[in-house]
Amino acid sequence: MTDTSSNQMWGGRFAAGPDAIMEAINASIGYDKRMAAQDIAGSRAHAAMLAAQGIIEHKDAEAIREGLLTVLSEIDAGEFKFSTALEDIHMNVEARLKEIIGEPAGRLHTGRSRNDQVATDFRLWVRDQLDAAEKGLIALMTALLGQAEAGADWVMPGFTHLQTAQPVTWGHHMMAYVEMFGRDLSRVRDARARMNESPLGAAALAGTGFPIDRHATAEALGFDRPMANSLDAVSARDFAIEFLSVASICAMHLSRFAEELVIWSSAQFRFVTLSDRFSTGSSIMPQKKNPDAAELIRAKIGRIFGANVALMMVMKGLPLAYSKDMQEDKEQVFDAADNWMLALAAMEGMVKDMSANVADLEAAASSGFSTATDLADWLVRETNLPFRDAHHVTGALVALAEKKGCDLPDLSLEEMQAENDKITAGIFDVLGVHNSVKSRTSYGGTAPDQVRAQVARWTEVLA
Ligand code: ARG
Repeated sequence: MTDTSSNQMWGGRFAAGPDAIMEAINASIGYDKRMAAQDIAGSRAHAAMLAAQGIIEHKDAEAIREGLLTVLSEIDAGEFKFSTALEDIHMNVEARLKEIIGEPAGRLHTGRSRNDQVATDFRLWVRDQLDAAEKGLIALMTALLGQAEAGADWVMPGFTHLQTAQPVTWGHHMMAYVEMFGRDLSRVRDARARMNESPLGAAALAGTGFPIDRHATAEALGFDRPMANSLDAVSARDFAIEFLSVASICAMHLSRFAEELVIWSSAQFRFVTLSDRFSTGSSIMPQKKNPDAAELIRAKIGRIFGANVALMMVMKGLPLAYSKDMQEDKEQVFDAADNWMLALAAMEGMVKDMSANVADLEAAASSGFSTATDLADWLVRETNLPFRDAHHVTGALVALAEKKGCDLPDLSLEEMQAENDKITAGIFDVLGVHNSVKSRTSYGGTAPDQVRAQVARWTEVLA
């Protein structure tokens, strides 16, 4: 079906309205209505500035302000009728404003274009999401700190190649993720600081001849300054791409942790028990308790990084300044943001609720010759053997224990002395997993005291 009425916002030179297919491909209102609050905030700042600069009359600015508040309350109440024919949120709001206040509505768009309008709205929207991500990250890190503090001296296997390597502490493992999410947090803050400039007043692309005050609108909207180049202001989307990059890196961290939780909660590992609140059952196997939340968090990186790649591809060949291609930026960012926030919240909930199976962790830490390095280090320290020779002696003892089907501390002193006659009973002090972790006191090491020091440091940083 073809709509024959031309567009009331830009239809002056058009005799006929767009084909239905044109309307369908052109409209963004289905999703950009999510920026309604930002759009209205931008328009209010713009109208107030126009009046302050004497570009429109104060009474018109006041009517615009009142009208915009009415529109916002209609949208908030779910009473607003969004129209596809009006393309996007900007024209939907303005058309409704005209219905409510009449003629002064037509003065709002003075010295402005949808190009700087959409760039402003989208920046405000992404900025809100960066603020939400900051909160989500801090909450997740706080939950991890709680786990680390409780288990600063619980012993678990540390892995390389997913093979038992050396004993580490539960707290140390939790704090590794605090470091990662801490860097994500700093990336979020960096991105926010960099993107917090106002495109408003760049107009279509070249600026405007009206005596507008871009500093005033920037300030009213909480931006640090107006963007310095109008061509850049309307055509830059690197702020959205940076948002998606930061989200992708964080989602990658979330995914690695989620993967560990999936492995750890399996019957084969039994390192953690996830709470019922963050697990599901199976419709056929009554014994099953599945770590679905962790699995879904693990999968989120797929769509978030996909959005990052998609927007890069949309932008990479666009000449300056605005092209309609840029309208394709929003759905990617909205979807990635929704899923990032959800993943952060779900991970926080899981971490808060999960309980470490301390005895199973310790048993696992004690198997697999995890203190072999401690034995070699003891030989170096106590008998002055070069490390390479100590490594060789230890290897022989591991082979012997393996042959006997026992662990290193189960070998007798005589059996050890047969490999190296300088070995004394003191060696047994380092073979226990608790001794092993306690001895790793180097800065950033797994010793409980080191872990507690890091917990204290981060607690202060986040306070
Ligand atoms: N809906 C458009 C977008 O998202 C708004 C800007 C339209 N500008 C234009 N010159 N047609 O990009």
